[in-house]
Amino acid sequence: MPQQPIRISASILSADFSALGQEVEAVTAAGADWIHVDVMDGHFVPNITIGPPVVKAIKKVATRPLDVHLMIEEPDRYIEAFVEAGANMISVHVEAVPHLHRTVTFIKKHGIRAGVVINPATPAVALEDIATALDFVLVMSVNPGFGGQEFIPHSVEKVRHVRRVLDAAGSSAPIEIDGGIDAETAPQVVAAGANILVAGNAIFGSRDPEQATRALRDAAGTKTTIRA
Ligand code: DX5
Ligand code: ZN
Repeated sequence: MPQQPIRISASILSADFSALGQEVEAVTAAGADWIHVDVMDGHFVPNITIGPPVVKAIKKVATRPLDVHLMIEEPDRYIEAFVEAGANMISVHVEAVPHLHRTVTFIKKHGIRAGVVINPATPAVALEDIATALDFVLVMSVNPGFGGQEFIPHSVEKVRHVRRVLDAAGSSAPIEIDGGIDAETAPQVVAAGANILVAGNAIFGSRDPEQATRALRDAAGTKTTIRA
C-alpha cells in the first residue's frame, strides 16, 4: 500500500476560547492541516464543550477543514446541524451508536467524510464489518472527555491492530489518533501506522502554538504540508 501523508489536526479544546479565531489562524499559519473540534454532551463523556453555533463561528475564520469529533449520545440527531455549521468530516463513537452503518451512510449522504471512533477499551475488530464504508478511523489514545491526559501506551499496538483490520477488509482508510499526542508519542504512532495526529495540549498548552505545531510535524517525520 502506498505511504499515506501525515496530517496534523489541531484540537481547539485546549485553545483560549476567548480568542478562538486568532488561535485557529495561528495554528493554520504554522501548518495545521485540519482543525479538530471536540463536541461533548455531559452524558457520553463527563465534560460539556461546544455545539453547532461555535462550529459555525469557527468556520468563518477557518481556512482548513473542520474535523468534528462527536462525543455525544444519539449523534444522529445533530449531524445535519453540524454539517450546516460547516463540518468537513464528522466522526462518531462505536460505543454511542447502535446502528453504525446507518449513521455512517447518513454522514456521507451529506457530502462530507465519515469516521468512526473507538475508545481505548474497544477492540479493533469492532471495525471489521464497517471498515469498507469508512473514510477514516479515529483511535482514542486516552479515555475521551478531557484534553491534556496521559497517552495510553497500548495505543501503539492498537493502531497496528486497526491497520491490520482495515487492510484485511481492503480498506485504505487513514487512521487518526487522539489523546496525549506530542513530540515523543507522535513518532511511535506514526511508525505503527497512524496518518492523522490530533494534538491539543501539545499545541495550545505551549507558549508558542505555531512553533509547537511545527515541532510536532518535525517529530512525526514529515515537513510536508498536505492540503486535504
Ligand atoms: C479528548 C479529545 C481530544 C483532546 C486531545 O476527549 O477528544 O481531542 O483535545 O487533547 P490532548 O492532545 O491534550 O490529549
Ligand atoms: Zn477529539
